[in-house]
Amino acid sequence: MKKLRIAVAYSGGLDTSVMVKWLQEKYNAEIITVTGNLGQKKELVGLADKAYKSGAKKVYIQDLQKEFVEEYLWRSLKMGALYEHNYPMATSIGRPLLAKALVDVAKRERCTHIAHGCTGKGNDQVRFEIAAAALAPEIKVLAPLRDWEFKSREEEIDYCQKHHIPVAVTKESPYSIDENIWGTSIECGILEDPMAEPPADAYQRTVDPRHAPDKPTYVTIGFKEGIPVSLNGKPMDGVSLLHELNAIAGANGVGRLDLVENRLVGIKSREVYEAPAATVLHFAHRELERLVLDKETFQYKLKMAQDYATIIYNGLWFTPMRMAMDAFVDSTQRVVNGLVKVRLYKGNVDISGRTSPNSLYDMKLATYTNEDTFDHKASVGFIQIYGLPVRTFFRVNKHLLMKPKLVKKMVKKMVKRKK
Ligand code: ARG
Repeated sequence: MKKLRIAVAYSGGLDTSVMVKWLQEKYNAEIITVTGNLGQKKELVGLADKAYKSGAKKVYIQDLQKEFVEEYLWRSLKMGALYEHNYPMATSIGRPLLAKALVDVAKRERCTHIAHGCTGKGNDQVRFEIAAAALAPEIKVLAPLRDWEFKSREEEIDYCQKHHIPVAVTKESPYSIDENIWGTSIECGILEDPMAEPPADAYQRTVDPRHAPDKPTYVTIGFKEGIPVSLNGKPMDGVSLLHELNAIAGANGVGRLDLVENRLVGIKSREVYEAPAATVLHFAHRELERLVLDKETFQYKLKMAQDYATIIYNGLWFTPMRMAMDAFVDSTQRVVNGLVKVRLYKGNVDISGRTSPNSLYDMKLATYTNEDTFDHKASVGFIQIYGLPVRTFFRVNKHLLMKPKLVKKMVKKMVKRKK
């Protein structure tokens, strides 16, 4: 009988290592592991060896950084997508790309199944499976963590020892950490208490703002059609720019977040994030848009960004809605060109200056000096008509502007008068 072939999303951690062996045994299957490099700092060397020792028949390790930055991160940056106003979604945006890489390998290797190591109470399972459903509806999904017998890390470690799967001898971090070039997500341990301040060791890539340099660091970012193309005057590809900016901003303690967040599955969870470059770029991009976008477009985009962020967060990357929103945003970004100079100082990022060939700022209109060309008298008629609905309403409903006690009296009087 032909063996079942399963493509497994493999990180090299305990769960996915156990998963490889467990799937191989349970289904008597041939396992092909797939690991995507999304710019995580974690060592990828030694990973292939570990996968083979866990029972993989074939191992794929793919550098997805360029695709991640250009096809995923830049889209979310151009939109200004921050989930619930804050979270830049490093984890959320990575999942559809990892699912795509997994599905691509599954097709090439003629696998009938793919498997992921997400739990049954998180967002990631949804993101993985909806992406896979869009890209390859014929492929079936296995999620061992939702239904296997292990109830603790200790049981998983026992299983590894029984099957000669290498487990890290180093002391395991109490946190669950997911990391890529856009940011780090940290959960579990003491962080599960929303009243507990994150201990210093929870943070992976940013300096404590109190220990950051006592002098500000200035950074100039160049944008072309909404995309960062240079750093401090040096033209750079996206991947290099993000790595360098992460280092600079991280050293200034920029990009830490501590949020209670609404998961798609209804749970509120406490999340600690570090996203140094993403924080700086979202800020700088928005400041440039203030300068170059017309009022309607700028204000509409702010609202749309909320919906777009929720779409990404909820795993709906490969959908017509997301693609249509991208088309809108791309059309707005044709004028988002220029330079933004920001100041990084002890965990903060703020603006130093901005300039653009597409700038809509008109000194002759804005100035309060005798260079002023604005027609002040034109405002009289403007306010007359703009305020017409307001005047009409309160001529009729004057009492609504009074104190509640007085209103009661007024209404009584009005009723009496009518009688
Ligand atoms: N709550 C975040 C999200 O859904 C991060 C999840 C982090 N995952 C992890 N394995 N630590 O995007």
